Amino acid sequence: MAHLTGAPEINLVDPDSYERDGIPHAQLTWLREHAPVFRHEGDPERGWPAFWAVTRHADIVHVSRHPELFSSFTRLALFDELPDEELALNQLMMLNQDPPDHTRRRGIVNRGFTPRAIEALTGHIRDICRRLVAEVAERGPEADFVRDLAAPLPLQVICELLGAPVEDRDKIFEWSNTMIGGDDPDFRKGAGVDPETVAEEGRKAAMAIYAYANELAARRRAEPRDDIVTKLLQPGPDGEVLDGDEFELFVLLLMVAGNETTRNAASGGMRALLEHPGQWERLKADPGLVRTTADEIVRWVTPVNLFRRTATRDTELGGERIREGDKVVVFYASANRDERVFDDPFTFDVGRDPNPHLGFGGGGPHYCLGVHLARLELRVLFETLLDTMPNMELTGNVRRLRSYFINGVKEMPVRVAPRA
Ligand code: HEM
Repeated sequence: MAHLTGAPEINLVDPDSYERDGIPHAQLTWLREHAPVFRHEGDPERGWPAFWAVTRHADIVHVSRHPELFSSFTRLALFDELPDEELALNQLMMLNQDPPDHTRRRGIVNRGFTPRAIEALTGHIRDICRRLVAEVAERGPEADFVRDLAAPLPLQVICELLGAPVEDRDKIFEWSNTMIGGDDPDFRKGAGVDPETVAEEGRKAAMAIYAYANELAARRRAEPRDDIVTKLLQPGPDGEVLDGDEFELFVLLLMVAGNETTRNAASGGMRALLEHPGQWERLKADPGLVRTTADEIVRWVTPVNLFRRTATRDTELGGERIREGDKVVVFYASANRDERVFDDPFTFDVGRDPNPHLGFGGGGPHYCLGVHLARLELRVLFETLLDTMPNMELTGNVRRLRSYFINGVKEMPVRVAPRA
């Protein structure tokens, strides 16, 4: 697409290149240095409008912390104009909202995700990890890290959070894959490459989750339990409660936001450890490093590569004039290699501390709600693996997800060599 003197060819939204080569770090590094707020050309044939690509850490923090200048609506629809019904759905989803609407809903759901509420799940998460590892060991020595460990862990944790039967995990897996991995033929269930059909499959999955959440709410209203669903359906100390469609849309968001992200952090993290055996050995020698490892994994992998914002008025960013209505895309994967912030950003260092990465967002009002849960899942998973499968090795090709949005791994064959 764009050609600048001395620049690599810049195209940050070609899903084929992500599938083949992963995050385009050479392009992002060049942009950080020479054009940190870069006017990315569109591709009218593919229906992609132009946008500003923001690649430096400081600028992404600025965008994230100024929702009055950079709206989150509609951040998930990067390049398409949406049909009316989908726009309406997006408008109601917290992820797409701006203050003050966002503030009220976020205040309500925060109560299920406080560090204390999440810490209380440690035992359950440890049980889930142990069970998964035991199943792998029993079937071993060959396994697929994604299918057998990284994917089921967050699915089972979400079932636990919602108080949903664990047998439902397969359909939740399918729904969330269809919604998020729409660019990958393996995830669109025969929808082919026609964007209309792909979008239709995504809509169907969203409707199915909506109906599922609706049933869940009805069951918990009739029979309250000690789970997050019940907590969210009951008024909090300030009397606030999720009402109307809000609960269903929140469940939809949880299933999508809490699944792929953690799955890809776990598999990308395991891959990084196996490809940097010195770091794996260091972790084995000092398992206390598992806390810093979890954040280094999120920095290194950056499971969510980007999000879009839209300028609400004319403003300036990185010396560029941004016009009202312009699309502004923040590349977290680039911020996480910013030489201005990190020493040796291209070194995977399990002891990195401090680690002000933007893998969970740039620190504004939308900062990842599941941050404590994601860290806990990663920590407990790697503790369990260190304890039970310290000699794991890669045995075949790692297949990446075809997506410029999620930095994902679909298959990762490993040989597990459990301790005798
Ligand atoms: C938001 C990343 C795990 C729930 C976000 C954002 C990012 C992100 C980048 C957007 C932040 C912004 O716009 O400033 C990740 C990563 C994860 C992870 C990398 C795993 C390693 C989870 C989990 C859950 C979750 C486990 C819940 C079960 C959410 C929700 C939002 C969000 C609900 C929207 C918050 C809002 O709009 O206020 N996450 N996430 N995430 N995340 Fe996560």
